[in-house]
Amino acid sequence: MTTVYLNGEFIPKERATISVEDRGFIFGDGIYEVVRVIDGRIFEWGAHAARLARGLSGIRIPLDASSIEALKGVCERLVSDNGLADGEATVYMQVSRGAAPRTHHFPPPGTRPTVYASASRFVVPRDQREAGVRAITFPDFRWLRCDLKTVNLLGAVLARQAATEAGAYEAVLLRDGIVTEGAATNVFAVVDGVLRTHPLGNLVLPGITRQVLVELMKENGIALVEKPVTQSELLRATEVFLCGTTTDVNPVIALDGKPVGSGTPGPVTRRVQALLDSRLYAAVGAGR
Ligand code: PDD
Repeated sequence: MTTVYLNGEFIPKERATISVEDRGFIFGDGIYEVVRVIDGRIFEWGAHAARLARGLSGIRIPLDASSIEALKGVCERLVSDNGLADGEATVYMQVSRGAAPRTHHFPPPGTRPTVYASASRFVVPRDQREAGVRAITFPDFRWLRCDLKTVNLLGAVLARQAATEAGAYEAVLLRDGIVTEGAATNVFAVVDGVLRTHPLGNLVLPGITRQVLVELMKENGIALVEKPVTQSELLRATEVFLCGTTTDVNPVIALDGKPVGSGTPGPVTRRVQALLDSRLYAAVGAGR
């Protein structure tokens, strides 16, 4: 039996129901977050909680700071109650503006946000990380606040579906001839020998994995230029990699059916991959 958390209660998943008037369902009016848990330890809780708080205030959902901080204990309990305290897991947290009769404008003050969280086993696809993945390019027709992790994921859903139909793992999104990010990852590329990624701003999600990689690169003397990669630069990139909570660092070995560089994961990607692995598994020993 899977236990989930809904509005203050730990209950069997089968009993967890939300209103048909929930604004998450009606309008995609909510924010979500996903964390990685390794042997019961949440990776970078502080950074995820800060992004959640920023997202909620960005769309003006009134969830107080103590409720956000309390979600850490919720995640930990879901991990232990579901027998996930050994090995790897993910926990998704979803917060919507709550249930109320349909109006585009906000519901009456006092409407309680809906808060839901669930944990699952996460199996790291190590062969895929080793060999790399295929990706396609796809138009970025999402809205202009991609810095907010909203549950309104239609742009990402359609992009990932196109990737899946093309036998690829990810869609690298292009807006006005520029690579922004992946459907559910941040994107880095080595162009003319220089490692680049899109700068933070309204066009990309401030990925927690991206943030950790930026720190690791600084600590280890790996130069990074936060400047958008154009579509033509992407075509001649010698390395491309993706990063995210459930993707770690994943090499892209082919884009739109053409090999990236030599068609095998490159040296910068491998180095960054090793650095992230050692950070992820720091407290439990390397090499998992
Ligand atoms: N996606 N960009 C987008 C659009 C994302 O959805 C994600 C994460 C990332 C990477 O962010 P982080 O390193 O914080 O996971 C970048 C998650 C994993 C998801 O939607 O499941």
